[in-house]
Amino acid sequence: MRDQILSVLKEAGTYVSGQELSERLGVSRTAIWKNIKQLREAGYEIEAVTNKGYRLNDARDVDVLNEQELVSRFRTKWAGHPVIYTRQTGSTNDDIMKLSDNGFPEGTLAIAQEQTRGKGRRGRIWDSPQGVNIYMSILLRPKLRPDLAPQATLVMALAIYEALQAMEKPAGVRFGIKWPNDIVVSVDGGAYKKCVGILTEMRMEEMEIRDVTIGTGININQETFPEELKGTATSLKLALGHTVNRAQLTADIWKYFEREYDNFAQHESLEGLQAAYEEGLVNRGRVVRVLDPKGEYTGTAQGITKTGELIVVPDGSDTPVYVGNGEISVRGVMGYV
Ligand code: BTN
Repeated sequence: MRDQILSVLKEAGTYVSGQELSERLGVSRTAIWKNIKQLREAGYEIEAVTNKGYRLNDARDVDVLNEQELVSRFRTKWAGHPVIYTRQTGSTNDDIMKLSDNGFPEGTLAIAQEQTRGKGRRGRIWDSPQGVNIYMSILLRPKLRPDLAPQATLVMALAIYEALQAMEKPAGVRFGIKWPNDIVVSVDGGAYKKCVGILTEMRMEEMEIRDVTIGTGININQETFPEELKGTATSLKLALGHTVNRAQLTADIWKYFEREYDNFAQHESLEGLQAAYEEGLVNRGRVVRVLDPKGEYTGTAQGITKTGELIVVPDGSDTPVYVGNGEISVRGVMGYV
């Protein structure tokens, strides 16, 4: 019933009287009112005006995340089907691995309002407060050599970058990709701060890929950050100055991801995506410090190879080094990027 009320209000785009709703849905006006109340509790902004009726505020910056809001916005063939939505979970990456074991298809998406054991890279915890951000993971079963699979992480970063670039934003807001797969944002020329993290986990079976789980955490409408993260982390809301509709952004991300991943799977490399990725690469042309366990050095980042390595020309040298997305991390010399 709530879904029906929502679709009538969405379709109308203006006021619909309680009388009309009750006639169209074949229930009493009291039942309509009770359902409107529940919808408001779920986060929908529904105005009620005497003699006019009900009107849904469906603006882009109204944020309600639930299964129906997601499914109704998805326009993909395989990415994000089915959607397994939960209010709270341990880690959506762990959920995907269980779903994979239970035979769920490639493209299955686990998405949660809150994680109690959110995992970051290098064994870190991913802070996952309730109701403001996106925590989601997708199941992939690429028919690729296992050593090529980590490139899928760069595909994910590119898709998110493209979805963010497509949003309307104030002139001073710049999004970028920090190699290999963080998305960062700068406001009015200020320092780049991280707003998206990606954790990819691969499982093998007899030397072949069993599955790949790409988990994405996006700080969307979070307004405050723990003291230790304030200098390097931010959210889309803090950068853009308004609330972002999480369901719409999610749908946009999977639209871009499906296109870019199909390209990657077809070429078995990033060759068709390299140029688009480099356009977003904030490290490009900047001095980076390469934290190589064999010896740290600084150099200038030039771009990426078609297999996703960062091309760095070390200071005092003309010969580029290809930095792999594994043990080595890269830090900006002037801050996070
Ligand atoms: C990073 O350290 O930058 C990666 C963070 C990845 C967090 C996401 S949130 C959804 C998915 N589930 C997890 O437990 N982690 C990833």
